[in-house]
Amino acid sequence: MDTAEIRRRFLAHFENGSRWGAHTAVPSASLLADDPNLLFVPAGMVPFKPYFLGQEKAPYPRATSVQKCVRTPDIEDVGRTTRHGTFFEMCGNFSFGDYFKEGAIELAWELVTKPVADGGFGLDESRLWPSILHGDDEALALWKKVTGLPEDRIVRLGRKENYWSMGVPGPGGPCSEILYDRGPQYGPDGEFGTTSRTEMPVELEDRYLEIWNLVFMQDELSAVRSKEDFDIAGSLPNRNIDTGMGLERVAFLLQGKENMYEIDVMAPVIARAEELSGRRYGADRDDDVRFRVVADHVRSSMMLIGDGVTPGNEARGYVLRRLLRRAVRSMRLLGYEDPALPELMPVSRDRMGETYSDLHSDWERISRVAYAEEEAFRKTLQAGTTIFDLAAGQVKESGGRVLSGQQAFSLHDTYGFPIDLTLEMASEQGLSVDEAGFRGLMAEQRERAKADARAKKGQHADTSAYRGVLDAHGPTEWLAYETLETESRPLALLREGHSVPALAAGEVGELVLDRTPFYAESGGQAADAGRIEFDGGVLEVLDVQRPVRGLVVHQVRVLEGELPADAGTLHAKVDPEWRTGARQAHSGTHVVHAALREVLGPTALQSGSYNRPGYLRLDFGWTSALSPDQVRDIETVSNQALRADLPVGWQYMTLAEAKEWGAIALFGETYDDQKVRVVEIGGPWSRELCGGTHVDHSSQIGTVVVTGEASVGSGNRRIEAFTGVEGFAYLARERDVVHELTTMLKAQPDDVVGRVRDMVERLRATEKELERARLSQLLAGGAGLAAGAQDVGGVAVVAHRVDGAGGGDVRTLATDVRARLAADRPGVVVLVGVADGKVAVVAATNDAARERGLSANDLVRALGPHVGGRGGGKPDMAQGGGTEVSGVDAAVAAVAPEVARALGGA
Ligand code: ALA
Repeated sequence: MDTAEIRRRFLAHFENGSRWGAHTAVPSASLLADDPNLLFVPAGMVPFKPYFLGQEKAPYPRATSVQKCVRTPDIEDVGRTTRHGTFFEMCGNFSFGDYFKEGAIELAWELVTKPVADGGFGLDESRLWPSILHGDDEALALWKKVTGLPEDRIVRLGRKENYWSMGVPGPGGPCSEILYDRGPQYGPDGEFGTTSRTEMPVELEDRYLEIWNLVFMQDELSAVRSKEDFDIAGSLPNRNIDTGMGLERVAFLLQGKENMYEIDVMAPVIARAEELSGRRYGADRDDDVRFRVVADHVRSSMMLIGDGVTPGNEARGYVLRRLLRRAVRSMRLLGYEDPALPELMPVSRDRMGETYSDLHSDWERISRVAYAEEEAFRKTLQAGTTIFDLAAGQVKESGGRVLSGQQAFSLHDTYGFPIDLTLEMASEQGLSVDEAGFRGLMAEQRERAKADARAKKGQHADTSAYRGVLDAHGPTEWLAYETLETESRPLALLREGHSVPALAAGEVGELVLDRTPFYAESGGQAADAGRIEFDGGVLEVLDVQRPVRGLVVHQVRVLEGELPADAGTLHAKVDPEWRTGARQAHSGTHVVHAALREVLGPTALQSGSYNRPGYLRLDFGWTSALSPDQVRDIETVSNQALRADLPVGWQYMTLAEAKEWGAIALFGETYDDQKVRVVEIGGPWSRELCGGTHVDHSSQIGTVVVTGEASVGSGNRRIEAFTGVEGFAYLARERDVVHELTTMLKAQPDDVVGRVRDMVERLRATEKELERARLSQLLAGGAGLAAGAQDVGGVAVVAHRVDGAGGGDVRTLATDVRARLAADRPGVVVLVGVADGKVAVVAATNDAARERGLSANDLVRALGPHVGGRGGGKPDMAQGGGTEVSGVDAAVAAVAPEVARALGGA
């Protein structure tokens, strides 16, 4: 049964729902969760989290979905076990306060055991083992009742296996799993069901394959330290069901394959990799792991790029980069060195595109991002290899055998060199790597990154205080679209997550109002600024956030008076100038985005944005630098749109309608029946999903002045611009610069560039002239030096100190002096230059001197100790450097005795 059919049967089973009621089929949400705690969606329940927590009312009592998921903590296990995929699809059914344990158990059991002919999966009951959490007698009784299995066929396990949470504060609950016994060839035989266990022994994991997890979602967790160690803060408002059946796992059982990498949607990638590499899957254990890594990572990275991730050095971008690079690297280890992704990814697209049609329509962008990253990695490999060779050379030269953790870390950190690559190349050179040291440095770096992230999220890391306010008072009445001023009542006054009775003058705290006109930072738009007045004082609004959905929190500083928590009526007032600037900047962002797409084509898609009054920046997926002409065109098209005075409007519609309208949905949206807000400028010219505040007509933006374009990590560019008054101010500053130049140069503005260019050229020519003069002056001394040669045992010896001359000059002079000495008589020249606190020793010998056994190299080596330096070269010319200027005269004085010694020894 292919995966498409498994997916279809799953959804059909729950849409029908038998005696438990029909489920609403909900399309998969994006892999990018709208949740700061999650890198990617790791489970089917994520889009439904607000319903479980009671933050929002579920629009349906029951739902079913096949959700795209990515989990990357096990990335090293990919290909080594049968069942770890970084990307996978989770089939789930959900009840929001509707049916509970019995419904979940009955529905799941029915589907897995129903014969294939009747629409089920037809798994053999004798191979199925349900599991329960120790002490969950209710589940035990229900499993016996529903399945008719005896008690010793129901496995009791501990929290590690049978309590499920998201790994972060949020909903959780005891769970039951359905395990499938693949038979004694996959693990030891024994009393499986009757033995009491806290956790599943590793050696049994391959044999008893978990295919479905039924979570009885009933608790709210306030802290999660590990799978077994967490704090339950209380009960959820309802008892819910969240289940997850692994599509790939069921597929490999039903398709009679050994593991998830060989199922219908993945095997063709392995087949292509076999063709390319000329190696065979199944012939070698190490190669097999590589084939599976390729199949998994090519698919995962394609799906991530599809949802808008671009490769980078942080968070999501870093995971994607790692996946792409591991895939490429695995192909190299399989012996294939040419660009691999253009060969492999289209194969994956053709299989996955049957379900996710965006992979086809968006292919140009997806493939461009992936292939560019492979190109970049190929260059990294080249550069990194040179650095690696240098490091390895140093280690060997100093007689060592171990590449330090620091060296491995900097290869990784600076050159993006994966550690496995470093390990392998080191072993090729007979070296080992201090892996523990490397991992220590990596851990430190991760800690720093986490601390950074915590600091950025600031007061919002722990949301329980806000949730309390929301539970007690309901959502904030949010009036940012309607008005700039309201009368409000304070609902809560907090400092560092705790209620306080008052804030004194100068203090900073957080204030929640029943209604507010302030825009909370979101969708790239900065928070509003303004003031809140109360009887006896004034507050300045420093920041406005929505730490939990529905609740607006103002960070305020008391400017005057003392603010009591029960302040009565307050007057909240957004700074109108600020808001005007914010509207200009946000509408300006949409205009620049539309202009960008007009100039570069529709594959240029925003990946992030930020705007505040007067300023905007837009990050977009694009792999090459923009030309000055392209930048100018983007600015011109933007300003044409302003001049055309396009109307700006917004309306609510379903996501499906918005898509049909061609609205650009940026990633991370929850795909459900809720209405989304679409902002349009000039009708279809610009349509985007957006919750920001905007101008009414494009001309109100004033102007758009693009100030620059730059790279922000591989595959991403950033364009920056000023809007409104700031735009004009920027131009005025440029005008001032031109004015100053014209005054200084006494030139017309149009002539300034020509004049400056002339001046730069003249300056260069003058510098060259000066250099020539300096050199001829230096060489003019050459004749005098040659004439003053002293005789040492029949050898003409010139030894001199030359102040103000660096190594290059001294060498030139030494060559000149040597040429001036008589050729038929042995001659030695030693010059010691001193410049900028550095010493340069140069020795030169002529042929006749070398015939007498005199070597420039020996002389430089002999003199080195006087000036604290070393050096060498050839017998005819050698050079050394040093740092001890105080030893220069001694070095010069040592030349004659050194020559005499050398002659004596010869
Ligand atoms: N949310 C549950 C899981 O991911 C079903 O296993």
